[in-house]
Amino acid sequence: MTANGMTRAKIGVLGAGAMGSGIAQVAAAAGHDVVVVDAHAPSIEKARQGLAKSLAKDVEKGKRTAADAAAVEKRLAFLGGADDLSAFAGCAMVIEAIVEDLDAKQSAFRRIEHEVAAECILATNTSSLSVAGIASACAYPGRVVGVHFFNPATVLPLVEIVGAITTDTAAVSAARALVDSWGKTTVLASDTPGFIVNRVARPFYGESLRILEEQIASVATIDWAMKEIGGFRMGPFELMDLIGNDVNYAVTKSVFEALGHDPRYRPSVTQRRMVESNRLGRKTQMGYYDYRDGAAKPAPVTDRALGERIVNRVVAMLINEAADAVQFGVASASDVDLAMTKGVNYPKGLLAWADEIGVSEVFARMQALQEEYAEDRYRPSALLRSMAREGRRFHA
Ligand code: NAI
Repeated sequence: MTANGMTRAKIGVLGAGAMGSGIAQVAAAAGHDVVVVDAHAPSIEKARQGLAKSLAKDVEKGKRTAADAAAVEKRLAFLGGADDLSAFAGCAMVIEAIVEDLDAKQSAFRRIEHEVAAECILATNTSSLSVAGIASACAYPGRVVGVHFFNPATVLPLVEIVGAITTDTAAVSAARALVDSWGKTTVLASDTPGFIVNRVARPFYGESLRILEEQIASVATIDWAMKEIGGFRMGPFELMDLIGNDVNYAVTKSVFEALGHDPRYRPSVTQRRMVESNRLGRKTQMGYYDYRDGAAKPAPVTDRALGERIVNRVVAMLINEAADAVQFGVASASDVDLAMTKGVNYPKGLLAWADEIGVSEVFARMQALQEEYAEDRYRPSALLRSMAREGRRFHA
């Protein structure tokens, strides 16, 4: 129970897919009664089975007792196949995690609003739609807030809390306090395309693809460099294969379009071809790597100078993106760093990394890229420029 006494309030989740079922489990594990509603009965059945499996695994690993697992399961109510949202009555917060479609979400919010009390917070787990756009369907848009979990929600600690221009600050604080009480790490993000992580992480993939397209290095060599020299847990191509090249391409496209076709985010033709040829990654057994039985893994060229060149270029682009996010109020420097370490496991915060390398050195690397390519894609962030000039750091 937290000081605000909200911990045991009833929580609603609409949509029992990958995200909704994970979020429901997190809330139930934190002691809430949770009601999960999905329009499709088979999704509910799948979610119920998935939950039982996940809890059994926790017990097996000694992460929770059998009694605790049974208690979590008991706190969850699953309702599927019905069009009735009246089960959300009495909820302190309803989190929507249905299909990523504005019309569907707006219509769901309109209907949820009819069933809940005025104090109920309405949260959306959207990744790419605007919270303001979803809230505009509601009679009380002030209580609509973005609560963006990462996949898998039971494992990844980060949650981006997104206040739209229409959101009451009290709703942002209440949503944040509630999610904090679930043991998650929350950061505040503005209602801008990709929020923090899906925007700032673009160059990790995009610049690696660009290096591949320029034939500077192979997939295996870029992955090797980013892991062995950069310290990233996974290489960009391994990670794209894991996420799914279709999913990664869709995120890139959505951020590119939502940010007015800024060349910095331009989707890669190579990535598009991967999608067109159904080389989606692990899920189709073929992506940048071949996952079929017996397939050989290509060897990297382990040339340290080449590796450093790759890492320096990708990391400079990432820091540049992070600096821009701070300048344009997407989030504070500390929240940007927290988001990238807790949401996508970066070895260190990008802006702390900038301080370590030296802001003026990062700025010089960006300037060199821009000079070399004469493309707007490589324009240095104006914040980096002024900080370099004034000798400032991101963190004290
Ligand atoms: P999913 O496809 O696994 O699940 C969506 C569920 O919603 C399905 O069970 C479907 O039956 C149900 N549904 C669809 N329309 C409905 C409606 N009108 N009423 C009730 N139920 C409905 O999707 P996933 O991946 O769980 O994504 C859900 C949301 O979370 C999306 O907004 C997505 O952008 C967002 N998100 C997804 C992440 C991911 O990595 N998959 C990460 C963070 C956010």
